[in-house]
Amino acid sequence: KGSFSRGPRGLEFEPVAPNTHDAVTVPRGFDQQVVMAWGDPIFRDAPAFDPRRQTAAAQLRQFGYNCDFLGLLPLRGGEYLMVVNHEYTDEQIMHPGYDPENPTREQVEIGWAAHGLSVVAVESQRRSGALKPVVGHQLNRRLHTNTPFELTGPVAGHPLVRTTADPEGRTALGTLNNCSGGLTPWGTWLTAEENFNQYFANADSVTDPVTAARLARYGVSGTETDRKWERFDDRFDLAKEPNEINRFGWIVEVDPYDPESTPKKRTALGRFKHEAAQPRLTSDGRVAVYMGDDERFDYLYKFVSDTQMRKGNSRKAREHNAQLLDSGTLYVARLTGDSPAEQIDGSGRLPRDGAFDGAGEWIPLVSGTRSHVPGMTAEEVLLFTRLAADQVGATKMDRPEDVEPSPVTGKVYVALTNNSNRGAAGAARADEANPRNANKHGHVLELTERHEDAAATRFSWNLLLVCGDPASPDTYFGGMDKRHVSPISCPDNLAFDPYGNLWISTDGNALGSHDGLFAVALHGRHRGLTQQFLTVPRGAETCGPHIDRSRVMVCVQHPGEVDGATAEAPGSTWPDGPGSIPRPGVVSVWRR
Ligand code: FEO
Ligand code: CA
Ligand code: CA
Ligand code: CA
Repeated sequence: KGSFSRGPRGLEFEPVAPNTHDAVTVPRGFDQQVVMAWGDPIFRDAPAFDPRRQTAAAQLRQFGYNCDFLGLLPLRGGEYLMVVNHEYTDEQIMHPGYDPENPTREQVEIGWAAHGLSVVAVESQRRSGALKPVVGHQLNRRLHTNTPFELTGPVAGHPLVRTTADPEGRTALGTLNNCSGGLTPWGTWLTAEENFNQYFANADSVTDPVTAARLARYGVSGTETDRKWERFDDRFDLAKEPNEINRFGWIVEVDPYDPESTPKKRTALGRFKHEAAQPRLTSDGRVAVYMGDDERFDYLYKFVSDTQMRKGNSRKAREHNAQLLDSGTLYVARLTGDSPAEQIDGSGRLPRDGAFDGAGEWIPLVSGTRSHVPGMTAEEVLLFTRLAADQVGATKMDRPEDVEPSPVTGKVYVALTNNSNRGAAGAARADEANPRNANKHGHVLELTERHEDAAATRFSWNLLLVCGDPASPDTYFGGMDKRHVSPISCPDNLAFDPYGNLWISTDGNALGSHDGLFAVALHGRHRGLTQQFLTVPRGAETCGPHIDRSRVMVCVQHPGEVDGATAEAPGSTWPDGPGSIPRPGVVSVWRR
C-alpha cells in the first residue's frame, strides 16, 4: 500500500496480505523461529515428544498445549523467563485413535498435565531475535491441574469454597482455561481463568434454585462434559462436589522468580470468565487492574487496591506487594453515549457528531469485606460477580477480551471481539459503545480516565476501531483514510510496542482469511493506521503478543482446530510439516 516506508516508528514493515496459508507468514525481510511447541522438553529428564506414544508422566515435564498469554520477564545476561498459559486441550486432534465417548485414564491425565502454565528460561541470540530455551534451568516450572494453589482474599475459607479434600477452603488444585493475563510492576505474573464452566459435569442435577441460577449465569449446564474428567476425579462432578467449581474463575498471581512459591488465586478481583488482567499504577501509587469478562453481553471491570505498591526488591517490599491484590475495591463499568439514540441504528455507521463516544463511570461492587450491592454479601459479590454487576446497571458489552492500559499515555484499550446476538430478539440492541447489531467483526474501545488517574471513578471513551473490511461503510479506523489499512476482524489480545503503538491479535477472523497480528498507530496524523504483521496457520488463533526492540512474539494457538479434524486427518500440519500432528507453539519474528 506504499505507506510502510513512510509510516510511524514501529510500523516500518510491508503489511502481510490476508491469506489462508498453513504457515506463519511474516513481512518481507523478516525471519522467524518456533521457540517452543507442545511437547518440547522443559526439564532434563523429559523424554523427546512422540505424539503417538504420549504419556501423562512425559507431559508433566514438557511444554503444555494451546499456549495463549505470553510474557517475558528479565533475568541476567540476556536471559528471560518466558511465562505461558496453556488454556485448554483438544483431545480429538492430539491423540491418534481418540474415542470421544471413552477417553482412557492416560488420555485424561495427559489433558490434566497439558493444561496450566509453563515457566521456561530462554536465552537471546546474537544477531537475531531468536530465543533458545534453557532446558533444566532452575526456574523452569510446570503448573497443571493437580498443582496446589492458595485461595487468598475475602473468599478464602468461605463455606462455598470448602470441599471434601479441602475442608478449610484455602487450597485449590489446579488452574484451568488460563486465557490471557498480564505482568505486574512488582515482578509477578497474573493469569486469568476463563471458560471454567466446561470442566464440571451434572449441573442439571442441582435442585437448589439459588445454586442453579448461579450455575446458569456462568454457563454451567448439562450432564457429562466433553472431556469426561468427572469419570476419573469426583471433583469435576457437581453432584458429588458442588463447591469445587467455586474455586475456579479467578485471577491467579504467580511469582515466576521463586519456583517454590505457591501461586495465589486472588478472590478480591472477582469471579467471572476472566480473559486477562493488566495492572497500572494510580496517581497515588496504588494499583489498578483492568479486566474483561469474555461473554456476549458481559462486562468490563477494574480493581483498585487499598494500599500502595512498594518499590524495590527488598524482602519487605516483596512481602508487602504480595498482599496488594487481597484488599481493594472492585468496580464495573457503565458507558453512556453522547449522540441521540435514534442515530445509533445498529448499522455501525457513524452518528452525526462523527464519533462513537461518550462518558462513563466505574460503579463500586465491593470494597474489601463491604458489599455495595443490596441483598448480596461481599463474599457473594466476589463469588458471583456477574449477578452483582447485573443489579447495578453495568453496560452489556460485545465480549470484552483483553483490556490493556498504554504504558505511554495511560489510556486503556478494550478489545470487544464480536457479538452475533447483539440486537437479536430478546437481547440488548446496539448502543453507542457497541454500535452494530449482529456484530461479526468486533471493535476496539479507547478509555481515558478522568485526570488520567487509574483510580478515577469517571472516564470518557471513544471507539478507536470498528473492525471489518475497510471497504465496508460499517467500519472505522480512527479517522484514517481506509485505503491505507489492513482488514481486521475479531480483536482479542492487545499489547504495546516500545513506541506506544497498539498491537492486536485476532481470533475468529470472519473475513474468510486466517487470523493474525496487527499494529495500529494511535497518535497524530497516523492515528488508526492498521497494518497486518503476520498471519497464522489453518484453524489457529493468534495469541500472546509480545513486542520489544528485538522481536515480535506470538503464540499460535490451536492450529488445525477445524470442523471434523482428527489426529489422523489434521486440519493443519504446522509446525512440523506434512504427515505430522499440529502443535501449538510460541514463535519469534525479527527483522533480518
Ligand atoms: Fe480464551 Fe476469550 O479467549
Ligand atoms: Ca457520539
Ligand atoms: Ca483470548
Ligand atoms: Ca480467544
